[in-house]
Amino acid sequence: MSAEVDPVKLMKQQVGYAAAARVQSGSIVGLGTGSTTAYAIQAIGERLQSGDLKDIKGVPTSFQAIVLARDFGIPLVSLDEVDHIDVAIDGADEVDPQKNLIKGGGAAHTQEKIVDTLANQFIVVVDGGKLSNKLGTNFLLPVEVIPMAVTPVMRLIQKLGGQTTLRMGVKKAGPVVTDNGNLVIDVKYEGGINDPTELEKTLNNIPGVVENGIFAGVTDIVLVGEIIDGKPSVREF
Ligand code: 5RP
Repeated sequence: MSAEVDPVKLMKQQVGYAAAARVQSGSIVGLGTGSTTAYAIQAIGERLQSGDLKDIKGVPTSFQAIVLARDFGIPLVSLDEVDHIDVAIDGADEVDPQKNLIKGGGAAHTQEKIVDTLANQFIVVVDGGKLSNKLGTNFLLPVEVIPMAVTPVMRLIQKLGGQTTLRMGVKKAGPVVTDNGNLVIDVKYEGGINDPTELEKTLNNIPGVVENGIFAGVTDIVLVGEIIDGKPSVREF
């Protein structure tokens, strides 16, 4: 491996390509969001262009996925046009030993959850740094909220034991606005999240919350990109 290659980028690249290699001709594919999935979208597009893959339809999870799919020549369909999704490929910010996830680092978790949970097979692609013994110990939990409800939702989450921060834009004044026109609160749970399944439901029950970033019990396969003895490799978790 050359000294200039960023190892995290390399792991993301390899695991993205490995997921793309599992896609079969004739499939309807959920296209996730983030830098790791971007490599999978690129590789699916390249397989289509080379003729190795035929008759693929992509269901995007964000504006980012739409732009990448167009760049790499993947035909897109909406959920109104399909009655199933064969496979979804998506990244994650944290993965626990039960394959529960925290997602939403790119503020796209609402559409991601819709598409990923509809898929017959949900493949998660991560680099080794995303694995964790307990969700919430390495990454804050994103919660998408309707703008007019931000203050009461933050108060209620604080009462329930979370520390809240409104996510602010980078190279954009003011808060991050999601693809759905909403805001994102990032929540810290001291000591991590004890019961992801329960917390996912509790947060989604708060009026004004659109969706939170816990994906409990929905992952089929986790592919992990690693560097072993200086060489990139991919293993199934
Ligand atoms: C976006 C997501 C992403 O999948 C997650 O943030 C992982 O991103 P990356 O592959 O860039 O590390 O949930 O909302």
